[in-house]
Amino acid sequence: MIKNIAVLGGGTMGHGIAESFALHGYNVNIYEYDEKIRMHIIEAIESELTFMHEQSYIELEEISATLNRIKVFDIMKDAAVDADYIIEAVAENIDLKCKIFKELDSYCKAEAIFATNTSSLSLKNMLPAVSVKRQERMMVCHWYNPAHLMPIAELSNFGNMPASIYKEVEQLYLNIDKHVVTILKDVPGLVANRIQQAVAREVFSLMENEVASPEDIDKALKFGPAFRYATTGQLEVADMGGLDIWCIVGDNLLKDMDNSKEANPILRKKVEEGKLGMKSGEGFFKYSEQMRTQLKNDFNKRLITQLKTSKKYI
Ligand SMILES: NC(=O)c1ccc[n+]([C@@H]2O[C@H](COP(=O)([O-])OP(=O)(O)OC[C@H]3O[C@@H](n4cnc5c(N)ncnc54)[C@H](O)[C@@H]3O)[C@@H](O)[C@H]2O)c1
Repeated sequence: MIKNIAVLGGGTMGHGIAESFALHGYNVNIYEYDEKIRMHIIEAIESELTFMHEQSYIELEEISATLNRIKVFDIMKDAAVDADYIIEAVAENIDLKCKIFKELDSYCKAEAIFATNTSSLSLKNMLPAVSVKRQERMMVCHWYNPAHLMPIAELSNFGNMPASIYKEVEQLYLNIDKHVVTILKDVPGLVANRIQQAVAREVFSLMENEVASPEDIDKALKFGPAFRYATTGQLEVADMGGLDIWCIVGDNLLKDMDNSKEANPILRKKVEEGKLGMKSGEGFFKYSEQMRTQLKNDFNKRLITQLKTSKKYI
């Protein structure tokens, strides 16, 4: 049974993953090699827990209880050696991930399960880093950002693991209130990111072709398709609308839509200009320091509202 968890990397994803497990009663060790990040992990988690409490999503006593279950380490072995489940959330680099799994395999318990939070790398390219026996206990467990609030986990079930191990990990994620999507094939981006990229490709193309203002394109998404998608899947939406209509509209529209195989030129140009979005102060929109904090807080508030209400629709 999974009791002790190690999270490798305490960056954007790692700290939120650790926070989710600890909030639900698991002991979590975080390994962070970068001292600057390491010094602020607990502070970041405490601030997110406090925010959740202010939004009446968790009780006051859950803040200290959660923090008491988290330990931060600067040596990977110390964090991982006694763990039952180890998830890496280090930089998206195949060589780094393989190096880490190889090292873990040399000292972790034989029954420990290894997971990667990769967004785009193939599990099959990581499996050779570990022993044949461990390959039966290794999988992708893909979280969404912000990890402590987004209620989805995509778990790989590619055939390399016995069903009992998959079930054990699935139960772990159900215990922390995530909705589990079982991924049956080792495809880049799994399911949720592929859907998101399909939408993003058309959105960037509509912008490139000046079909509407950037504000109105986002408005069309928020109050059109995404308004339904917050409670209803695409296949359900298609069934509700009628498959005959979806078929006719698909034939009429798809030939006119973007089908490019790489990132849109306007996106690339922004990156070349250093306009990286909120973190650089400008992306498609402009942001002051004050706006950034306000917008992030508003975004998290809306996610918490959705978490509270979406339970009704499951
Ligand atoms: N950010 C997202 O939206 C998101 C969503 C899902 C999955 N992911 C995946 O999660 C993983 C982490 O992404 P992130 O956004 O948290 O990145 P991040 O840049 O915030 O954190 C990267 C982490 O990697 C660690 N790291 C970098 N080099 C290292 C090294 N040589 N040895 C040990 N640790 C090292 C850093 O110290 C840090 O903890 C990636 O695989 C990414 O694809 C990211």
